[in-house]
Amino acid sequence: MMILGIESSCDDTSAAVIKEDKTLLSNIISSQVDFHTKYGGVVPEIASRKHQECIIPIIKEALFKAGITLNDIDGISVTQGPGLVGSLLVGINAAKSIAFSRKLPIVGINHLEGHMLAPYLENAINFPNITLVVSGGHTNLYKVSDFGSYTLLGSTRDDAAGEAFDKVAKLLELGYPGGVVIDRLSKLGDPSFIDFPRPMIKDPSYDFSFSGLKTAVRYYIEKISESELTDMKINNICASFQAAVVGILTAKTIRAAKEHHTDTITLTGGVAANSLLRSQMTEKAAAGNIKVFAPSLQLCTDNAAMIAFAGLKRMSSHDKFPYSLNAISRWPL
Ligand code: KG4
Ligand code: ZN
Repeated sequence: MMILGIESSCDDTSAAVIKEDKTLLSNIISSQVDFHTKYGGVVPEIASRKHQECIIPIIKEALFKAGITLNDIDGISVTQGPGLVGSLLVGINAAKSIAFSRKLPIVGINHLEGHMLAPYLENAINFPNITLVVSGGHTNLYKVSDFGSYTLLGSTRDDAAGEAFDKVAKLLELGYPGGVVIDRLSKLGDPSFIDFPRPMIKDPSYDFSFSGLKTAVRYYIEKISESELTDMKINNICASFQAAVVGILTAKTIRAAKEHHTDTITLTGGVAANSLLRSQMTEKAAAGNIKVFAPSLQLCTDNAAMIAFAGLKRMSSHDKFPYSLNAISRWPL
């Protein structure tokens, strides 16, 4: 069986081909970031238009790189939600057109499930495990008992962690998206320079909150003059902010693993690309004999490989979707 995966929920157009034994034959990603940077965030109308321009060439490239044609495809897997409706619809309509014209089965995938399964593409991971999905739109902690069996333990009560990275980067005029820049600058700064608050770190729930931390950064920046905001100071603010976010994510995820008696954690989503999160989670978990799995960097941020893989799992368990499947902008998992 060979599955074509399509992802277009936000500002990346992506297509991938995966084989039944989970060999990834291609994973083509076209980022629109250059078109959105000057607006400081994703502009939905631009995102939708760029997806329309790219979707067919990206699918063709994914097939070409895989060394196959549409004749070799046995099923289509597409992100059905959550996301920007205008963006989702481009991928969904392309997927439906191919599936309908070739009478192929189609499955609609929850983008969060796609992220959750990305670590399994490259690793053999035990169940049950604790999974932290941490991206621009979500910060969710799950107990995963099997493929398709997810219990939400906690989530953010306000901003997602990636959103906090992006907003702090905007305050510091570092451009969009901010996570990767803050990650880089933090390596040059002192994480203990400012003792930013770590909201809800001691709260017994598994919920998160990042908007107070972002506001604390804003107050700190507003209190100092422009001439004081040197490159070194910016590096220190980034490092101190990143240390606070990573401290919260790490503490809660490891506590969840211990309280649910599992020795396995998986980290996934765009923020799972963060170097401090990966190293600190791995180091602190190891002290409790807990292993941490995170996807390679390209599979952390949005990509169609994870959607193709989730589709493979769904098709293997005979999930069937009608050709009338539609976008779902809000879709909790
Ligand atoms: O998963 P993703 O590509 O899209 C969503 O589903 O949201 O995640 C994008 C988010 C952005 O907020 C971006 O700033 C953040 O992931 N991000 C990072 C890093 N790379 C991407 N955050 C922290 N450190 C990184 N290295
Ligand atoms: Zn995503």
